[in-house]
Amino acid sequence: MSYHADLFGRLSEDGLKETFDWMADRYHSQTVRVSQSRYPSWMNQVITLVQSWRPRSIADVGCGPGYLLQQLHQRFPDTAIKGVDYSSAMLRHIPAGISTECCPLLDWAKTSSERFDVVLLTFVLRDQPDPQTVLTVIKNRVAPHGHLVVLETQTPTGWRKWGFDLYFHAWLPWWASHVLTKDWTGPRHLAPYRRLADSHRAWMQARVLPNALVAADYADIRPHRPATDVVMLWSAVAAY
Ligand SMILES: C[S@@+](CC[C@H](N)C(=O)[O-])C[C@H]1O[C@@H](n2cnc3c(N)ncnc32)[C@H](O)[C@@H]1O
Repeated sequence: MSYHADLFGRLSEDGLKETFDWMADRYHSQTVRVSQSRYPSWMNQVITLVQSWRPRSIADVGCGPGYLLQQLHQRFPDTAIKGVDYSSAMLRHIPAGISTECCPLLDWAKTSSERFDVVLLTFVLRDQPDPQTVLTVIKNRVAPHGHLVVLETQTPTGWRKWGFDLYFHAWLPWWASHVLTKDWTGPRHLAPYRRLADSHRAWMQARVLPNALVAADYADIRPHRPATDVVMLWSAVAAY
């Protein structure tokens, strides 16, 4: 196993992929616990937003073990749905019948010829070595006037910041190393939830995401959750 972290604690693609492979079997249950059971309601909000656009095609990029994909597939049986992820261990959890592609997202965005009415990036952008390039290149896969959706963690503004910092940067790394990732065999400081806290620290894009979307030439950029929340949900339209 090889891990290469940059100065901001971001892993190179190889190290990151191995972390996600390791998480695959426990990703859903641990994400529900770590989110204090809020994960399904965040996903529901994404689904409600997507539903409002009545898309004919949806790509879930960095789909993980496919909770959102399965919900979308059940609710929109007539919509063409595709999941993309570079972790084959994650994709093994996705039922046959849902189309998937095992590929680094930038390679997929550069080489695929498909375009989708909706492209989803949920809890994916923050971990990328160059989020701006991802936003720019992924636009190739959004149909004209189609929507990009970004769901990510954010440090809330106001009093909730203190509780968030305590939880995310103190409690979560401790809980992870003593309970959630006890059987992790890689370097301690790169254990999944410790790394999550570090990558959130490096995730300065949270504040600049709207500008980053403008720079990538998206239009109609809208927030769907308040800045006082622990997750951000944005949508943008691919203007051509
Ligand atoms: C934190 S999980 C999020 C999973 C799912 N989208 C969700 O909201 O629960 C990030 C997923 O993105 C995948 N991923 C991260 N970076 C990627 C990349 N550069 N190319 C392809 N997949 C990537 C990981 O393998 C993992 O399954």
